[in-house]
Amino acid sequence: MRCLVFLLFVALANAKVYQRCEWARVLKDHGMDKYLGISLADWVCLSQWESSYNTSATHHNTDGSTDYGIFQINSRWWCTDGLTPTQNACNINCSELLTDNVQVAIDCAKLIIMDSGISAWVAWRDHCKGHDLSPYLAGCGL
Ligand SMILES: *[C@@H]1O[C@H](CO)[C@@H](O)[C@H](O)[C@H]1NC(C)=O
Ligand SMILES: *[C@@H]1O[C@H](CO)[C@@H](O)[C@H](O)[C@H]1NC(C)=O
Repeated sequence: MRCLVFLLFVALANAKVYQRCEWARVLKDHGMDKYLGISLADWVCLSQWESSYNTSATHHNTDGSTDYGIFQINSRWWCTDGLTPTQNACNINCSELLTDNVQVAIDCAKLIIMDSGISAWVAWRDHCKGHDLSPYLAGCGL
């Protein structure tokens, strides 16, 4: 029984769905506000449209690669899942992008924008670029 409770705890600790303002605060605490000139609202918008703030979100692409986690980071370029031939530029196992240790996803996202800019994310181009992003931080007190 104790073992079962422990396993249940591990399962719960391993994935997280953030509230919008909660996620904005985490991003800010990890130095994402104006990192390489990109605003906090851009990151919150991107996360909303990529994963709905769900760290365990995955999406399979037609090219055989998979997008992982709150930022939907792609297995062909940035991480390895043992399935897709990959550059693994962030030098991580894709499964590390699905836990509540969001440090891993944030560090990888910083590397992605250094390399490719925030336009690397299709959802950002489609839903955030050129839009009024103030609703994404509304009521957050940030
Ligand atoms: C988060 O994503 C996981 C994996 O796709 C899914 O099982 C879960 O229902 C999602 N949570 C919410 C609140 O949407
Ligand atoms: C990634 O981690 C998972 C879960 O810990 C493990 O099963 C898998 O073998 C690892 N994949 C690679 C390519 O290291």
